[in-house]
Amino acid sequence: MSQDLAKRKAAEAALKYVVQGEMLGVGTGSTVNHFIDLLAERHFDIQAAVSSSEASTQRLLKHGFKVIELNSAGPLSVYVDGADESNYQLQLIKGGGAALTREKIIAGASKTFVCIADESKLVKTLGKFPLPVEVIPMARSFVARELVKLGGRPVLRENVVTDNGNPIIDVHDLQIAQPLALETAINAIPGVVTVGLFAHRPADRLILGSPDGVREVMP
Ligand code: A5P
Repeated sequence: MSQDLAKRKAAEAALKYVVQGEMLGVGTGSTVNHFIDLLAERHFDIQAAVSSSEASTQRLLKHGFKVIELNSAGPLSVYVDGADESNYQLQLIKGGGAALTREKIIAGASKTFVCIADESKLVKTLGKFPLPVEVIPMARSFVARELVKLGGRPVLRENVVTDNGNPIIDVHDLQIAQPLALETAINAIPGVVTVGLFAHRPADRLILGSPDGVREVMP
């Protein structure tokens, strides 16, 4: 419960980054769900949202927001999304909710990426949270063997298919001392669609909520 309150506080603090009348990038997850609900409760007038998942799209539409394709939107000024882990450089692990590919695309297309999370997500070294990797179905076993060579313990996420129709491998037991190099190495494995390591495109702001309040971390 208090973790949920912390998420809501982080979401509330991100409202100040929303530019009324503009398009807004909206991520996925329980923290973002608070953010979407708050946009509606506070009657924010956004032109349209670009959403990173079917789940967020449905929530936005239910509140009466317009949702458009990224292809029709062009560059976005602000993207608000959660994370599974962040280090002090605001490099992230994302994809616990299976939306990592669309999240990475929208983050890349946005000028400012505002990450919202409860304070437990801030870590010194990324990797305690298993690293999600979305793969092309026929490459699943091959990619898993390559991930073992990189020092991880790959586990197929049961009963999960992404919005793009692909499975996810969660890579356990990684201590990610060099996020940039690991992101590059995993991206180079044929069959990998997206790795949920956001090192080349970290967040620009991290808003951490706790039941007592919020604090903002800059890289
Ligand atoms: C979705 O795929 C993820 O990247 C989420 O942003 C991440 O799992 C954070 O989720 P919560 O806000 O539910 O903690």
